[in-house]
Amino acid sequence: MVAMRLIAANWKMNKTISETEEYIKNFIPLVKDINDREILLCPPFTSLQVAGELLKDTNIKLGAQNCFYEKKGAFTGEISLDMIKETGASYVIVGHSERRHIFGEDDELINKKVTAVLEAGLRPILCVGEKLEERNSGITFKVVETQLKIGLSGIEEYIDRIDIAYEPVWAIGTGVPATPEDAKEVHSFIREMLKKLNPDAKGDSRILYGGSVKPENASEFMKYEEINGLLVGTASLDPDSFSKIVKSF
Ligand code: 13P
Repeated sequence: MVAMRLIAANWKMNKTISETEEYIKNFIPLVKDINDREILLCPPFTSLQVAGELLKDTNIKLGAQNCFYEKKGAFTGEISLDMIKETGASYVIVGHSERRHIFGEDDELINKKVTAVLEAGLRPILCVGEKLEERNSGITFKVVETQLKIGLSGIEEYIDRIDIAYEPVWAIGTGVPATPEDAKEVHSFIREMLKKLNPDAKGDSRILYGGSVKPENASEFMKYEEINGLLVGTASLDPDSFSKIVKSF
């Protein structure tokens, strides 16, 4: 049984500490009565602490956008899971397409990060998705299969503690989302893959869709039971717009 559906905001490299404070103060009252779905904000690292303080005792969860897998040491510029955890975050996005394609993260590195997030007792959201040329050459399923197999290698027994985000690269930040039907097809494939990787899993993983989700199209995705939530970039940067997405279904 899939747990509560999850609507997540990925702010990417947006918002200073003071902008984060302003957003959260405006956002809390907009969603305060919602308890039948999970709401998650993933601000940049520098805003995690203030966000954690403001979100304490609310119905809104906190997540990081990335992490490093080592516990501590000479890794200039990196952020450990202990550092993230102390801010009150309970989720970490791992393997976002921008990490893969701008910063060169590969499936093996992403696997180490997902493993480390689990070990820290936090919940990873593993992102997968094909590039446009991969979709056009008909290898979407193959690409997603490889990303899942390597990304979840060695941690298959913990699959219920991991959520997956399907974010086709060509739909991210372009204003051109996948059709809900295309997304649903890939989501079904991901669900089957998770079952194959761990036939004993209860099916608790949420499979989120991400890529040009807006208040106007969110319900089109959420009407399919295969789509267990959304990961929203641009349209999550405004509290009104993100609250409309949270309440769209
Ligand atoms: P957009 O919603 O801006 O397309 O970004 C999606 C995304 O990458 C969320 O992680």
